[in-house]
Amino acid sequence: MQVVHTGADWNKYWLESIKSDKSIGFVPTMGALHEGHLDLVRKAQAESEIVVVSIFVNPTQFNNKEDFNNYPSTIDEDLDKLKNENVDFVFIPSTDSVYIEQPKLSINFGDLEMVLEGAFRPGHFNGVGIVVSKLFNIIKPHKAFFGQKDLQQTGIIRRLVKDLSMDVQLEIVPTRREEDGLAMSSRNVRLSAEEREQALILIDSLTKAKEELLTGKAWFEVQNQIKCDFEEMPLASLEYFELIHPESFASYREFDASQKSSICVAAYLGKIRLIDNLPIIP
Ligand code: PAJ
Repeated sequence: MQVVHTGADWNKYWLESIKSDKSIGFVPTMGALHEGHLDLVRKAQAESEIVVVSIFVNPTQFNNKEDFNNYPSTIDEDLDKLKNENVDFVFIPSTDSVYIEQPKLSINFGDLEMVLEGAFRPGHFNGVGIVVSKLFNIIKPHKAFFGQKDLQQTGIIRRLVKDLSMDVQLEIVPTRREEDGLAMSSRNVRLSAEEREQALILIDSLTKAKEELLTGKAWFEVQNQIKCDFEEMPLASLEYFELIHPESFASYREFDASQKSSICVAAYLGKIRLIDNLPIIP
């Protein structure tokens, strides 16, 4: 496994792989790797001849400075995990090399970012859009792998690729969960034991809402009930609980079992913000 720190270094390896006609699969991450990230890596391994994983905690996508400063970093463990998965290249650029200057370009995803994460984390998707564009331009992958866990991020990147005619195929990998159902997240390690226990309200509320919708209960009733459930959890504070179309992200007012939909949740457990979602397939 080669660790590469600059685009210029990677270009040498890139040329070799292109000359030998090898397909490149790319998994962008911010490190603190868990099994969810490794599922993306495994899928990339299965579908490409060369796998590149990037580890870069992108400052421009954090709208909350404290969240950025406290973002977990476990680089030695990450490298061990990636070595175990037989990853070919790990790209770990410095912030200065990615942002030689503060970009003047900003990306606005229109109505896609007016809701959910876009609405609650102003500037977040601009930061994601810019860094993913930069990483795609540096790595030049044939395929790139993203997790369903960040549903709106997958939609934003799909649109980025389409609008800028980028020549990269996107693959979306299902959410990996802990045994008790909590979606794996790098931020989970920062939860106290009590917060970790109460964090189950995310998946429990999604599952409960899905079941109730499928038995015919009205969405507004379901949503109100879930808001009450959150109020009973002293360490949890709900930001949103929405029923949306999984591609346009438009909120549904009523559930229609014949339409694709997803239920999306964001909540704080103490100071830690977690998100999750559950698809409902017709
Ligand atoms: P990060 O949060 O490190 O996630 C990297 C990738 O792993 C994303 O595509 C994310 O959706 C996926 N992932 C995270 N948890 C997962 C889980 N439990 N199951 C399956 N996949 C999961 O997302 C980012 O980094 C950044 O925004 C990035 C795209 C790297 C741009 O900076």
